[in-house]
Amino acid sequence: MKPMEIQPGIWSVGVVDWNCRDFHGYLESPLGTTYNAFLITKGDKTILVDTVKEDFKHELGCNIAHVLGKDAKIDYVICNHLEPDHSGSIEYVMERYKPEKIFLSKMGMTSMKGLHHKAEDWPLEVPDMGEDLDLGGVAVRFVEERMLHWPDNMGTYLPAEKILFSSDAFGQNWATTERFCDQVDQGILYYQLGEYFANIVQPYSPMVQKVAKALRTMDIEMLAPDHGMIFRGKCVPKVLDDYERFASQRPYKRAVVVYETMWHSTEKLAHAVVSGLVDGGVDARLYHMKATHHSRVMTELLFSGGVACGSPTHNNNIMPLMADMLTYMKGLRPKNKVSAAFGSFGWSGECCSIISEYLDQMEMSQLEDHVRTQYAPGHEGLKGAADLGRDMAKQIITNVDNWEQENG
Ligand code: FEO
Repeated sequence: MKPMEIQPGIWSVGVVDWNCRDFHGYLESPLGTTYNAFLITKGDKTILVDTVKEDFKHELGCNIAHVLGKDAKIDYVICNHLEPDHSGSIEYVMERYKPEKIFLSKMGMTSMKGLHHKAEDWPLEVPDMGEDLDLGGVAVRFVEERMLHWPDNMGTYLPAEKILFSSDAFGQNWATTERFCDQVDQGILYYQLGEYFANIVQPYSPMVQKVAKALRTMDIEMLAPDHGMIFRGKCVPKVLDDYERFASQRPYKRAVVVYETMWHSTEKLAHAVVSGLVDGGVDARLYHMKATHHSRVMTELLFSGGVACGSPTHNNNIMPLMADMLTYMKGLRPKNKVSAAFGSFGWSGECCSIISEYLDQMEMSQLEDHVRTQYAPGHEGLKGAADLGRDMAKQIITNVDNWEQENG
């Protein structure tokens, strides 16, 4: 993709990864992604904000040459985040452009030296957060964004231009030729924003709320993350609202039912749980873990108020893909969800108690009675699963109503 001047003297020089389907090894990205980087040419010095994944370093070089010519000089590099999708081309940038300084956060120093061993000899500088720095006539302010997504994350704000380069925060995995929020379908944009939040930023929701509050005090007309669309105009307050809503982890009148199955017994229970949820007035999404990536479940859970988890007992344990799902879920620390366990067994029957332990570790409220049936569920077993769905619906509706009363 050719570079685009997004404001006078500010260029988008990042790349589109059309074929990315496995983002960072744990998040499915069916729509691809982008690694956004920005070039500021309006002052006496040239500043590059972030680089791109190493595989795309030559494309980044072409984009820079497109703006500055083949003898391009870059004076300063700002590394808002050191994860390799953004710092992967830093060695290429150092060798080719020999910048005077690289600005990064205090924790960025640790990540930089850990990931790029040549960095010991580089001109690294840790600026003060919140202070304006004059970089060749361009005022630059570094913004605290720790843990959105690593300890090293920071944002870069240009007060005169009212633009924030926000790093991972507000990103979306979506490969497109469009660059701006108002050029794309709003429903897809919201879902992709939620997907990124649910799978990347969610564990740090309290920090997100703090950062969003601080950003509201700043005059931002353009918000440019390192993945996906750039927000401008009315999209800026809207995306702050969206992020605050996600970080509040408000529950919705919807539930997710996830399961694994061997001989379809747990699957029959899963379908009965869904019927009970719908009878109780709550919509549901049903996911067999052999057909679904764990990241999709987490995205749906962000827009839900409960999760029912099912597995047969297998070798005194649960099925491997349910263990994967629950391990992944636990790491992302979802809040304000009602949960329940169900499953079938042949002889030992540990499935529900093992699922329940995971749910306890996540500090989720659980329905008291699990549904556990021996071998294939008959009428009583299926009725029990449907009752579980109805009980869950009732609890979700109560939680949503309470939430709305307390939070408006
Ligand atoms: Fe887009 Fe945390 O890297």
